[in-house]
Amino acid sequence: MYSSRVPGDRRPNAFARALARARADRAPLLDLTTSNPTQVGIRYPAGLLEPLADPAGLVHRPEPFGLRETREAVARDYARRRVTVDAARVVLTASTSEAYSFLFKLLCDPGQSDALTPAPSYPLFDHLTRLDGVRQRTYRLTYHGHWCTDPAELDDAWTSATRAALVVSPNNPTGSAIREDEAREVSGRCASRGAALILDEVFCDYPFEHPWPNPATLTDPACLVFRLGGLSKTVGLPQIKLGWIAVDGPAALVRDVLERLEWICDTYLSVSTPVQLAAPRLLADGAPVRSAILERIRLNYATLRRLVSDVDSVDLLHGDGGWSAVLRVPATTSEEQLVLALLDEDRIVVHPGFFFDFPHDAFVIVSLLPEPREFARGVARVLERVDAA
Ligand SMILES: Cc1ncc(COP(=O)(O)O)c(C=O)c1O
Repeated sequence: MYSSRVPGDRRPNAFARALARARADRAPLLDLTTSNPTQVGIRYPAGLLEPLADPAGLVHRPEPFGLRETREAVARDYARRRVTVDAARVVLTASTSEAYSFLFKLLCDPGQSDALTPAPSYPLFDHLTRLDGVRQRTYRLTYHGHWCTDPAELDDAWTSATRAALVVSPNNPTGSAIREDEAREVSGRCASRGAALILDEVFCDYPFEHPWPNPATLTDPACLVFRLGGLSKTVGLPQIKLGWIAVDGPAALVRDVLERLEWICDTYLSVSTPVQLAAPRLLADGAPVRSAILERIRLNYATLRRLVSDVDSVDLLHGDGGWSAVLRVPATTSEEQLVLALLDEDRIVVHPGFFFDFPHDAFVIVSLLPEPREFARGVARVLERVDAA
């Protein structure tokens, strides 16, 4: 089964080939994998991008961590979520992916350091670690009515070369937000074993129901924490390219890492001035986009719940938030056969569990972003096919 994994596995596989073929075809596809909010009928305010034309952008003001006013705007955005962040500890990057790369450069020695990543989780971790010469070691999340971080899994994955533990909260695609006891388990280990906690909160604005407690207030005060966020999810603008890192932890450690991080950022100076100048207004004026996306994912999640409740053979696994949901389906056929049948015969695209490194068959992952009628039609067809099998 795992020979057909997509991320990290550079061999061609049936699903990737079939998807490429289907996308090249003229006939429309119903895409239940989209992670692009700009192409699913979400309304963006007409003048939202006007601040990018600020004439002040004609002047280049190189600042390794970014313009002070932009870092202050990011700190204010944390305050919106009742999280206190010092603007002096905010570092701007061109994306969250770039933030990972900078942190791997900061924390790891190529070919000699390990980073712990959760599984199932974001497939790009395979590439992001590999591109910086970092060895990826996964710790499995386990499902007991909700997804849990198991301390024994962390310990099994941990080595003397572990320099960073990654936590995604809420996680993609499980939607699980880290709980208080789990945050303490991970951060306590990082603090006592000389590793840093990288806390990816890109989906933090999208709770399915109630917001969860802020993980950074739950972490060990001796732990060095890098919180990651960005415009791509916070205001649904992946094409604008702005991410950030907020550094927290013991003052001496933070001072030291900021000094070294400055050198890395200064080498690339990758965030464009127009984006930095526009960011304070994009963060403020993008609020209606965030609300529209939140409304969309909640509506689709409610539809999913209702449709799944009519089908005994399928479970909707519990998630706390984010842009995707996980269905457990009977393993009567392999995930690969199921997603290929949906693609070839129904022209519906869903992700198989193996795409996100689920431990066994059979899981189907759907994006909650699609237009609601299309979403309901696609999910109904997926359930029909699964139930018939
Ligand atoms: C968990 C997670 N982190 C980071 C990213 C990348 O975000 P960015 O567009 O800021 O690079 C994604 C994108 O989907 C994601 O799912």
